[in-house]
Amino acid sequence: MMTRLPSDTHEEVWRIEDAETGLKGFIALHSTARGPAAGGLRMRVYDTDDAALADVLNLSRGMSYKNAAADLPLGGGKAVIMGDPATDKTPALLRAMGRAVETLKGRYWTAEDMGMTPADMAEVARETDYVAGRDEGAHASGDPSPVTARGVLGAMKTGAERVFGSADLKGRKVAVQGLGHVGWHLCRMLHDEGAALIVADMDAARANLTARDFDAETAAPDSVHAVEADIFAPCAIGGILNARTIPQIRARMVAGAANNQLATPDDADRLHAGGILYLPDYVANGGGIINAAAEILHIADRNVWVEEKLAALQATMARILARAEAEGTSPAHLADRIVAERMLARAG
Ligand code: NAI
Repeated sequence: MMTRLPSDTHEEVWRIEDAETGLKGFIALHSTARGPAAGGLRMRVYDTDDAALADVLNLSRGMSYKNAAADLPLGGGKAVIMGDPATDKTPALLRAMGRAVETLKGRYWTAEDMGMTPADMAEVARETDYVAGRDEGAHASGDPSPVTARGVLGAMKTGAERVFGSADLKGRKVAVQGLGHVGWHLCRMLHDEGAALIVADMDAARANLTARDFDAETAAPDSVHAVEADIFAPCAIGGILNARTIPQIRARMVAGAANNQLATPDDADRLHAGGILYLPDYVANGGGIINAAAEILHIADRNVWVEEKLAALQATMARILARAEAEGTSPAHLADRIVAERMLARAG
């Protein structure tokens, strides 16, 4: 059922197939140099096996960077299931995935990602202990989204200090794209800080409710990046910062929770050239993995530990922004460099 695939870039890559349950997917461990490889389980439709493999390789590498940026003793891993979560997901299939995770004996820790729910992860956890983000049990860390939002808020303040000369967000106009788990909490926190909000979601009812809760204006989901605002916060999909959207952005700073916001590495340069400060996504959104790490690492005093790690993450962001400015480059490139150094230091 599990076939190991050769790889020059990743420590372990596995193809998972289970004829009985229809499970088809991959698990990739990019690096365990800093600790067990941790990263979520995603279920979605892929056109080809190669597309699913490319996704898991890319996402697991991204997790190595995110975990190193948060200075966690964790490596990077990811798992994908090929299929439509609405129609192909069954308890038996999820349990088969759980058995696959179990065979890796803790070298890979999984968690909820796109297409998965807490109930699904509980099903996976019937077969393996290596599931984080659980609602119950020893060290359970629950929904990471509020902590992710706090990390984004902290990053925003750090960036605001640099761009606007003050970390105070009172009166700042923030455009938030995506009002799901993270976006909603971020709006709540920004509202508490006295920021003015412009919100957008594909789900118009959700946008209207959020607008009502936080005295916000609404914008269309496909043009919220272009509204008049101080800060643009992408909290929905990846690839939102691209050759088409960047020239339309009027905010002076981009800081949000979405993964893989830059469509290509060149887009970091495009933002930099346009005078827009981009806060590297995997540093800004590291709060969620910090929250889950407390569970994986069995931290006894989790609240204190999470606070310390969040403060350290904010300090890392401040360092990245300062060095990027001194070198006249995009913070995205600086973040990649700092994290690569951290990974090498640990591997050596
Ligand atoms: P979610 O699925 O709860 O919410 C996403 C929201 O975005 C939904 O309300 C959806 O309707 C909306 N949306 C989708 N496409 C959109 C578009 N084109 N324009 C406007 N709205 C759109 O997801 P969640 O958990 O809030 O995550 C948001 C982003 O943050 C994702 O990219 C995720 O990978 C990333 N992230 C989430 C973490 C967490 O703790 N939940 C941790 C780190 C990253």
